[in-house]
Amino acid sequence: MEVINTVGALRERLGQKGVVAFIPTMGNLHAGHVDLVRVARASGGAGSCVVVSIFVNRLQFGPNEDFDKYPRTFEQDCERCAAAGVDIVFAPDESELYPAKQTYVVEPDDIQHRLDGEVRPGHFRGVATVVLKLFNIVQPNYAVFGKKDYQQCRVLSNMVQQLNLPIKLVLADTVRADDGLALSSRNSYLTAEERVEAPRLYTLLQHVRDAMQQPAANVASLETTTMTTLAANGWKPDYVAIRRRADLGVPTAADRSLVVLAAARLGKARLIDNLEITLSEAV
Ligand code: PAJ
Repeated sequence: MEVINTVGALRERLGQKGVVAFIPTMGNLHAGHVDLVRVARASGGAGSCVVVSIFVNRLQFGPNEDFDKYPRTFEQDCERCAAAGVDIVFAPDESELYPAKQTYVVEPDDIQHRLDGEVRPGHFRGVATVVLKLFNIVQPNYAVFGKKDYQQCRVLSNMVQQLNLPIKLVLADTVRADDGLALSSRNSYLTAEERVEAPRLYTLLQHVRDAMQQPAANVASLETTTMTTLAANGWKPDYVAIRRRADLGVPTAADRSLVVLAAARLGKARLIDNLEITLSEAV
């Protein structure tokens, strides 16, 4: 495995490669990221070159967010990547990726203002901008993202489609701990006591999924009762929302492909999770 820090060196190296499968990350890699390496290799095929980027992107953090505190564990990340069979780690520093103030940006569609976008203004603009830059640098055939960040997947799929990028996005299932908690770098902010409480988020999403199968299910009241239950157990929920999968809009009675998304603070950690819901056909 090679570690490359500059755009020039990476371009030179990738010039001789065939199929490239790419996984953008912000580091502090866990088993969820490692699973994306497996998915990338399966997508690119034997003989493909799997590239992981590690870059904590200031542009997607709000002024009061955890950019400075975001866990940086570069040595350990490289060991994980090598063990997972990654070919190249691309780890630029800020001056390499943002040598000048980034004034050209990607303005995503309306999805950017919903859910997480409402709580984190400018977040998805920052994500789309850095991902487009990384796509232009790596020029991958495949790029792998986790459905854990469901709204991010939607924003990026729409970007690829609307800007005609010649890249196939592959969306991977969320990897969870045995108790159901979605793996996340931000789980390290949880105290031991909060870590015991944290799986409640996924348990409640499963309840919502099951309740939605009932003919009398009421979207708004399910969202409210889930938020109330979280609050009663010490969480500060930002949202619990049952949405149409295609555009994350509010579903109509005819929509069968849904997703329930949630974001809530538990102590210092802001956790997000989601679960797809497929309603059986109305009779
Ligand atoms: P980061 O949070 O490091 O996540 C990198 C990739 O890992 C994302 O595609 C994310 O959805 C995926 N991922 C995280 N936890 C996962 C889990 N438990 N199971 C499966 N996949 C998981 O997302 C970002 O970085 C950034 O926004 C980025 C796209 C790199 C742009 O800066």
